[in-house]
Amino acid sequence: MITFAHAYKVFPNGYQGLRDINFKIDKGEFVFLTGPSGAGKTTLFRLISGFDRPSSGLVEVLGSEVATLKNVQIPHFRRRIGVIYQDFRLLRDRTVLQNVAMPLLVRGDSAGAIDRRAREILQTVGLGFRMDSYPDEISGGEQQRVAIARALIHHPGVLIADEPTGNLDQDMSVEIFRLLEAVNAQGTTVFVATHDTELIRKRPFRVIEINDGQVVRS
Ligand SMILES: Nc1ncnc2c1ncn2[C@@H]1O[C@H](COP(=O)(O)OP(=O)(O)OP(=O)(O)O)[C@@H](O)[C@H]1O
Ligand SMILES: [Mg+2]
Repeated sequence: MITFAHAYKVFPNGYQGLRDINFKIDKGEFVFLTGPSGAGKTTLFRLISGFDRPSSGLVEVLGSEVATLKNVQIPHFRRRIGVIYQDFRLLRDRTVLQNVAMPLLVRGDSAGAIDRRAREILQTVGLGFRMDSYPDEISGGEQQRVAIARALIHHPGVLIADEPTGNLDQDMSVEIFRLLEAVNAQGTTVFVATHDTELIRKRPFRVIEINDGQVVRS
């Protein structure tokens, strides 16, 4: 499902963001990615979601080799992946409902189907009462849940979540992890970057730890 083999990421300034990364995640797995700030977690996720290409080595996701995807293939590739960004990336001039509906709109679903599914997923993340608000009118934790709903709305085969509970209190973090586990139970492969060692310790899932651009535990 996700394979890294001798993958490197060297930035234009020469900095080695990732060095000789090797691991494999099978379909249906739930895996944590941990490591200190600056370790390379977001860099690694950007390779999985096709926002960036490895400088060398192999990154394969859902049967596609990211390095060799043509630009025209990228939108189709990304449609099978759900991404929760560390900084949410919500559209300020769209309502909560419109933000969440975006992946289905891009895919060309019917207006009725989009509306139904967007309302349903917003209820699931506990934001049914905020559908018509704009991102600047809601709290950071609520924005985070909008980002989560948007990542899940199209039933992706792989969900990558970069610090999905970074701005949430403990109760809400537990709720979000329940949601991610429920998504995983339905067959979605889930890969979550987090600093929350407490949450990791309480769960039976595999942990990949990186430090200074290298895997130190897998
Ligand atoms: N475009 C870039 N050019 C040069 N260096 C970069 C670039 N992007 C990231 N880096 C560096 O690569 C390293 C890894 O960054 P990354 O954002 O992947 O860390 P992270 O593990 O996600 O950290 P955090 O937990 O703070 O989000 C950092 O030292 C960062 O400064
Ligand atoms: Mg990061």
